[in-house]
Amino acid sequence: MSGNRAVAYLKPGAVEVRTIDHPTLELKDGPGVASANVGRTCRHGVILKVLATNICGSDQHMVRGRTTAPEGLVLGHEITGEIIEKGPDVEFLDVGDIVSVPFNIACGRCRNCKERKTGICLNVNPARPGAAYGYVDMGGWVGGQAEFVMIPYADFNALRFPDPEQAREKLLDLTMLSDIFPTGFHGAVTAGTQVGSTVYVAGAGPVGLAAAASAQLLGAAVVIVGDLNAERLAQARSFGCETVDLTRGTVEEQIAEILGVPEVDAAVDAVGFEARAHGQGSPEAPATVLNSLMGVTTAGGALGIPGLYVTDDPGGVDQDARTGTLKVRLGLGWAKSHRFTTGQCPVMTYHRGLMMAILHERVHIAKAVNATVIGLDDAPRGYAEFDQGASKKYVLDPHGVLSGVRPV
Ligand SMILES: NC(=O)c1ccc[n+]([C@@H]2O[C@H](COP(=O)([O-])OP(=O)(O)OC[C@H]3O[C@@H](n4cnc5c(N)ncnc54)[C@H](O)[C@@H]3O)[C@@H](O)[C@H]2O)c1
Ligand SMILES: [Zn+2]
Ligand SMILES: [Zn+2]
Repeated sequence: MSGNRAVAYLKPGAVEVRTIDHPTLELKDGPGVASANVGRTCRHGVILKVLATNICGSDQHMVRGRTTAPEGLVLGHEITGEIIEKGPDVEFLDVGDIVSVPFNIACGRCRNCKERKTGICLNVNPARPGAAYGYVDMGGWVGGQAEFVMIPYADFNALRFPDPEQAREKLLDLTMLSDIFPTGFHGAVTAGTQVGSTVYVAGAGPVGLAAAASAQLLGAAVVIVGDLNAERLAQARSFGCETVDLTRGTVEEQIAEILGVPEVDAAVDAVGFEARAHGQGSPEAPATVLNSLMGVTTAGGALGIPGLYVTDDPGGVDQDARTGTLKVRLGLGWAKSHRFTTGQCPVMTYHRGLMMAILHERVHIAKAVNATVIGLDDAPRGYAEFDQGASKKYVLDPHGVLSGVRPV
């Protein structure tokens, strides 16, 4: 096979669908590939025909020019696909299997992988712990917003769906297992959500909505979602969340109107470093969410922080922000004995259980995030609309297999 249509980052504000090489079981040189990774052979890898691959808020940080992503980087870390070829060292997967791929690439052999900290694998990225497909500083593994993609250490990384036919029918929900559903769930779990908890989720993008649906699944008594985007808040209400509109009034006041007290048991940051200050037409203020979560979380509570914070931000609001140094009021969190959990979600910790919840229709994640299918060639439009704040989770359909697939 020769060509492979794929979505590449061009320059701030622009992506393009272009033809790249068909993947092989080797990581070849290309945009963003760490030099020590060039020529790495992957006898443990598989080649997937991509059946569904989603656009993520994490991609938007790159496409907005807020990272050091290089021109030509092939994007896409949310991958579900069918195995069409396997390397000689793949033992337990077969051609024809349909699998969900965690966005974290992990070797399964290092100290961190053995402790299931798959977001900070030591062997897949020469520059720092942790890797991902199609992402700046993440090792240069080619992205999966494409017709085909190579998945290394496949026996370890891939989650095989028990029944390929059933998987095709539930693909619109199952595609959320590669990132945002586990990530939202991780946010809710690490915020300490339990049966009866009151939970505040900052951000009503797909990750925030996934965190809210996860908090409900975990038995929260009340889930409150905050954003400045009215359409996204309406989406949160559509599945039973309370909402706070951050263009008016303080978070504390609005939480008090709902709960009778201005605080919650658990809080999730599903916004990250491009956070805006509260109020109408407010400017970017990167520490806003972290500081407001410390304000509203009860003493002894926890903050789950899946929202992304970076070490280099060319578009940062000031010199400090450009190196990821934020004005966080840590004294407040310390005084309230808060616990914080940051970093990549270790998808593998959660994906099998969440798959079972989808297959047995205990959760409706595609509906919660308003999964919206578009063709691969429409990716530039999907990126643009998502950037404008559309309340949709865009799912790219490179092989036209999603038409007729409905949310569970
Ligand atoms: N940790 C992980 O493993 C992981 C995985 C996936 C995504 N992420 C990160 O999660 C974050 C959210 O992803 P997404 O796809 O939902 O992105 P998104 O950009 O679609 O959503 C972010 C939302 O935050 C809102 N917002 C801005 N300032 C706010 C504030 N002060 N309070 C409340 N809401 C505010 C925006 O209006 C927007 O709706 C991103 O930073 C993304 O990179 C992390
Ligand atoms: Zn993602
Ligand atoms: Zn590892």
